[in-house]
Amino acid sequence: MLHIYEMLRRAPRHVSFHTPGHKRGKWDITELSFSDNLSAPNGVILRAERDIAQILGSARSFILTDGSTCGVLCMLYASKVRRLFVPRDAHRSVFHGCKLMGIEIVRGGEDGGELPRVTSAEEIEAAEAIDGVLLTSPDYYGRIPDLKAIRAACDRRGLLLLIDGAHGGHLHGEANYAGNYADLWVDGVHKSLPALTQGAVVSARTQALGEALSEAADIFRTSSPSYPIMASVEYAVKAKKNEKVRKYAICLQKKCGIRNQDWTKLVVPFGGAADEAQRYLEKRRVYAEFNDGNFLMFYISDRNRLRELKRLDRLLCKLKRAPAAARPAHVRGARRGAVVLLPPQEAVGKTCAKSFGLFPPCIPLAAEGEIVTSDDAARLARARGTFGTEEGKISVYEG
Ligand SMILES: Cc1ncc(COP(=O)(O)O)c(C=O)c1O
Repeated sequence: MLHIYEMLRRAPRHVSFHTPGHKRGKWDITELSFSDNLSAPNGVILRAERDIAQILGSARSFILTDGSTCGVLCMLYASKVRRLFVPRDAHRSVFHGCKLMGIEIVRGGEDGGELPRVTSAEEIEAAEAIDGVLLTSPDYYGRIPDLKAIRAACDRRGLLLLIDGAHGGHLHGEANYAGNYADLWVDGVHKSLPALTQGAVVSARTQALGEALSEAADIFRTSSPSYPIMASVEYAVKAKKNEKVRKYAICLQKKCGIRNQDWTKLVVPFGGAADEAQRYLEKRRVYAEFNDGNFLMFYISDRNRLRELKRLDRLLCKLKRAPAAARPAHVRGARRGAVVLLPPQEAVGKTCAKSFGLFPPCIPLAAEGEIVTSDDAARLARARGTFGTEEGKISVYEG
């Protein structure tokens, strides 16, 4: 039963002297006598959240209409951690949340290489004086850390485990699902399940953490949540899986993708030919999720049609693939002098004052305090979307 959808479907036609101002969206309504209230639910939304919690295996789950970004902020707040292990491939929302809440970051994961390294249990064992661990699982490249070993390491050390599953909403019911291991976790329902953009869920393993999460959701969620997004989240979590698409995606991955553990992310190495491959595909109106200068990532979901995958398969066969180039590692620099905005090429060798990177995958290329490399500058120059930049310039210490 889809509680929110049914309520919207049966909503009476009425004269609107309430928000939103467009007055004409049958489903785009606000909190009315029949539509419940996300911030203190006791009707259809409560029933939807309870069903979602049961499906995801949580003590409490909260629907979010503000993306996984809001979920990350809620998790960080509810965890009350002070010193958190954060891998290099964390999304920028994690860094923003830590800054906002005064959480000290212990950065994990070796830098350099073709892709950011996946966190290991050994790294967690070795990290000093931390009281929590945050992982991205799966990451934007479909890789999943050894969650069982990491959970065991957290248990040995009494650490809270937070998982940013912005890309793992489709994994519930499977062995690699974040909710099987985490104390607090986010499901980015809109990315890999058929929900509207910004639909997400944040969940807690225990009632006590659920209460803390409830307080956090009250702080970070909008007070004007979108009913179409809420309904789509409930729908997406309950939606059926499409085995045919999944099987084809796995075959495609074996044929031309990197080895990962997530069929929804087809990551194809093109090396120096990545831009050319992207142009070729877009000319034929096929758009990938992102091009990081080395890999094209194709985001697949149960809602892709089989014929779309077959078309992608045919097109990829025509394209030359090349091994991805490794990136040089960053070293830490001195924070000397004023902060200035410079074009990336002129900033090479200076210390980064504000993390920047490609958008997506929204993982910092260089983080605050690291020396900007010529590789960073070259990637920014080619990128279509960036973050942490202002009119193409980046913030560095004058030195
Ligand atoms: C790993 C990760 N976490 C969090 C987010 C934020 O998700 P949203 O865009 O739904 O706020 C993203 C977005 O790309 C992400 O890749």
